[in-house]
Amino acid sequence: MGDTTADAGGETRGGAETREERPAVRFAHESEEEFAKILDFYGIAWQYEPRTFPLRTEGEVVVEAFTPDFYLPDIDTYIELTTLKQDLMTEKHHKVRMLRQLHPGVKVKLLNKRDYLRLLFKYGFGPPSPKSTEGIHRVLISSAQLKRRVSELGAQISKDYAGKTPLLVGVLKGVACFMADLMRQIPLPVAVDFMAISSFDNTESGVVRILKDLDENLEGRDVLVVEDIIDTGMTLNHLLGYLRARRPASLKVCTLLDKRARRLVDVPIDYVGFEIPDEFVIGYGLDYRQLYRNLSFIATLKPGWMEGDR
Ligand code: IMP
Ligand code: MG
Repeated sequence: MGDTTADAGGETRGGAETREERPAVRFAHESEEEFAKILDFYGIAWQYEPRTFPLRTEGEVVVEAFTPDFYLPDIDTYIELTTLKQDLMTEKHHKVRMLRQLHPGVKVKLLNKRDYLRLLFKYGFGPPSPKSTEGIHRVLISSAQLKRRVSELGAQISKDYAGKTPLLVGVLKGVACFMADLMRQIPLPVAVDFMAISSFDNTESGVVRILKDLDENLEGRDVLVVEDIIDTGMTLNHLLGYLRARRPASLKVCTLLDKRARRLVDVPIDYVGFEIPDEFVIGYGLDYRQLYRNLSFIATLKPGWMEGDR
């Protein structure tokens, strides 16, 4: 994302749409646009041509300057993409050399396509294998956006529960990433417990079966249910009834994603990470047939990828 996007979700409630609201960047070349998309895909912040370095001056006048294509703040490095045209290559090499001489503190890299994929991999942004990203349609929420929103939620929860010792109750397995990140953003004493449930049949009847019950006693506790996504609300509705019967002092709900358009049961939700449109999403804990949970971002599946669509 460009820097504008990195700041786009600053309101109390994030929105997956914010990515589209950034002013469009005009790229000089297709390869630059492609590079920007790859950076977005991995949630790496970037700025396009943010700075021009004077290389040679005659009197007061700058007669030669260099504007690298990208700046990546996370690794404090300027990137100049190369093309196949040999005369341009020679000129770019020359400019990079001069820039390094004149500004020894500035990190700059000249990259061709193969190089930049390798660079991203080196900094830990590459997927485990190309196969693990098959089926991904587009990134809906980048890992930088997730990180920021989760810390905002943590701050809000910490404020609301100040002086208390909340019990975070997660529903496996989808909540694994969110819970792991959220609990580390709450500087209060917290207890954490998990339960596993499954829909009894695969209909939307809302009947759930408990596969793993809680270890903790809920009586008199301040319970915060942490969910990955609320879709029809049937699962949560059933779960809240079950938890309420165990007489907690308070019972609230925090969900990372809210697919409000699909709601069938009006369940009260106290904390929402992002409202998302009615699309099937994967990543950051969420699966499609048990895969994709390890993606560090939330994405949509390619049209036709799901069984039944094909
Ligand atoms: P609900 O009972 O319809 O609200 O269903 C919530 C559960 O359905 C979530 O905890 C997820 O396990 C699953 N789910 C709903 N939508 C999605 C999605 O878009 N991707 C992955 N899992 C989903
Ligand atoms: Mg779930």
